[in-house]
Amino acid sequence: MKKLILLSSLLVITNFIKAEIKPCISINTDNVQLVLKVKEDGRLYQTYLGEKLNDKVNLNNLYMPRGTVSSVCTNGNEIYPVMGTEDYFDPALEVRHSDGNPTSFLKYDSHTEKSIEGGKETIIFLKDYLYPVNVNIHYVAYPEEDIIKQWTEIFHDESEPILLNRYASSMLYLESDDYYLTEFSGNWAKEMHMSESPLTYGKKVIDSKLGTRTAMLTQPFFELSLGNPIQENSGETILGTLGWTGNFSFTFEVDNNNQLRIISGINPSASAYLLEKGEKFVTPEFIFTFSPEGVGQASRNFQKWALKHSLYKGEEDRLTLLNNWENTFFDFDEEKLTELFGEAKDLGVDMFLLDDGWFGNQYPRSGDNAGLGDWEVTNSKLPNGIPYLVKKAKDTGVEFGIWIEPEMVNPKSELAEQHPEWIFKIPDREPYYFRNQLVLDLTNPEVQDFVFGIVDTLMTNNPGLNYFKWDCNSPITNIYSQYLKDRQGNLYVDYVRGLYNVLDRIKEKYPDLEMMLCSGGGGRCDFEALKYFTEFWCSDNTDPIERLYIQWGFSQFMPSKSMCAHVTNWNKDASVKFRVDVAFPCKLGFDIDLKGMDKEDRQYCTNLVKEYNRLKPVIYSPDLYRLVSPYETKHCVLERVSETKDHAILAIYDMHPDFNEQLLPTRLQGLDPDAEYKIEEICLMPGEKSNFTFDGRVFSGDYLMKVGLNLIGGKDMDSHIVELTKI
Ligand code: GLA
Repeated sequence: MKKLILLSSLLVITNFIKAEIKPCISINTDNVQLVLKVKEDGRLYQTYLGEKLNDKVNLNNLYMPRGTVSSVCTNGNEIYPVMGTEDYFDPALEVRHSDGNPTSFLKYDSHTEKSIEGGKETIIFLKDYLYPVNVNIHYVAYPEEDIIKQWTEIFHDESEPILLNRYASSMLYLESDDYYLTEFSGNWAKEMHMSESPLTYGKKVIDSKLGTRTAMLTQPFFELSLGNPIQENSGETILGTLGWTGNFSFTFEVDNNNQLRIISGINPSASAYLLEKGEKFVTPEFIFTFSPEGVGQASRNFQKWALKHSLYKGEEDRLTLLNNWENTFFDFDEEKLTELFGEAKDLGVDMFLLDDGWFGNQYPRSGDNAGLGDWEVTNSKLPNGIPYLVKKAKDTGVEFGIWIEPEMVNPKSELAEQHPEWIFKIPDREPYYFRNQLVLDLTNPEVQDFVFGIVDTLMTNNPGLNYFKWDCNSPITNIYSQYLKDRQGNLYVDYVRGLYNVLDRIKEKYPDLEMMLCSGGGGRCDFEALKYFTEFWCSDNTDPIERLYIQWGFSQFMPSKSMCAHVTNWNKDASVKFRVDVAFPCKLGFDIDLKGMDKEDRQYCTNLVKEYNRLKPVIYSPDLYRLVSPYETKHCVLERVSETKDHAILAIYDMHPDFNEQLLPTRLQGLDPDAEYKIEEICLMPGEKSNFTFDGRVFSGDYLMKVGLNLIGGKDMDSHIVELTKI
């Protein structure tokens, strides 16, 4: 027995000595590390993922153990496993070569490392040794924000096209006794509903096959907690997302050794992609962070990174606005709109946003069943056109923004009559409709020109226009492209690429333009789209109670200035103050009949807009502390702290407290313990005084974080905004 142990230790040692000559690659941020190692077989394996290791650790010694070597699975942890190897779980890549062979083996060839703005990029070059197929794996690590993103390039030199049956962006491995997965599912008006479940042997897949309105049922985000259910301030936590405005897929597979494999990428379902010789298939970015201190820190990492490196105009200001959708729906004319410009001005917001219903002549858009596609102003409704409205708004002192839904068409439209070949429709089959509309075929460059032209024409005719709300109310239906002919497997991928092509052209020609991403509410929201959009519409559901959950969900990844929140008449049982206070810590807007409000409520709104403008720097800070969860209590408390820790705001919501509920103090977080803070309740109703005993007093950061304040109360749908200023 002793001999056996000695022999196996010797083997291990010899292996290490041999292994030392093979490259070991570290992808790391200030606090997170991913280590990759070329092993004896020349293939590349993940040997570590977790908290950054002390510099003294010899990375060559790392070996993510795979339990006992089983007879079915003698290998594992390959960073980009391919169909055909001895690893019998789902591969990241599956290629059918031009001769019909469905197997590949990728070996490490070389790698490069270089500094790029804000981080470091590592590119690893892998090659099949039998077929001329190349795979380049890219990593970018952002040290300060602890974010790593990863994507893959696939190309080949085979004589005929190859078929990509799977083409993940990333494959990661984790080891723990238990795994808890949080997903964000829902439906129209129920976006981002969070639910957690343990992962056990086998697969759990979160994916979308909806194409355009891709996140209507589930969003491209996940959270994983190792060992225990997820917590705000403790526990090893991973947050991941895919930057792709189309079908996505995350596969979580616990294998026979209780190791977790995560495959992230475009959903390969119905998307076997035909790749021509010399063409490069670039997968979307998989973006993730690891936090040893729970999801709160992981969210701050994402928000900080998004503001600095991802969100369009992430470090710039945002416009507050008055939208007319919930107020007028399709029923408006010039007089009504110009009146609303005045109301926007009185309210103090920056912009008026004209929503759906302004276009179409032969088939006027007076409901959602006609006119989509005919982007000319309805003369009978708005006889002086958009230029008049833009000028009138500017003369009144507000900017002007406009709604479009440029990827879609109503069958009742001139566009559908003139260009039936531009529409996804299955030959010889009856089409089916989602919201009475069909989807334009953006795989076709002519259609891309048309869609770009909608924005371009509006901008050319109205140089003063500075905002678009870009909507997308239907998933891809009637899945057939006349343009792609026998390459239908490329449809879902090429659609998204066509969309990005249009957005690239818009961004290049109109770099100052700000745009809101909308999709029948929050049915489309990802970090690639947000490279073009300054913000997104979280949901059509603006009931303040339900919004608290939706915003809580999006805040896991998204910075506040990207999350559009509008005050409306949903849930009139809630006071106007409560509804306004719920929108306050996001990107503020109003979509409500202000004239119908009583004087005090209206005054409250005007005062709040002023306070919002004053507090924007702290509201837009990435440092969010979610202190009290609506999922765990009948309350919700959020704290935003400025990056210098000299300013903070608390947004406090008592939703539906229990009778005689025991109300404990809430401990604050993220403050400077040695600093003194003056605390004041702000945003009070006209004439109202604060009932908080701490109002106007000074406390140390240490006290606030260790003892806390009595913030939550027992009144139904009651809210408070509190400001902390370092003195
Ligand atoms: C979608 C959007 C709404 C509104 C309507 C207009 O549902 O989410 O905000 O713009 O379209 O038709």
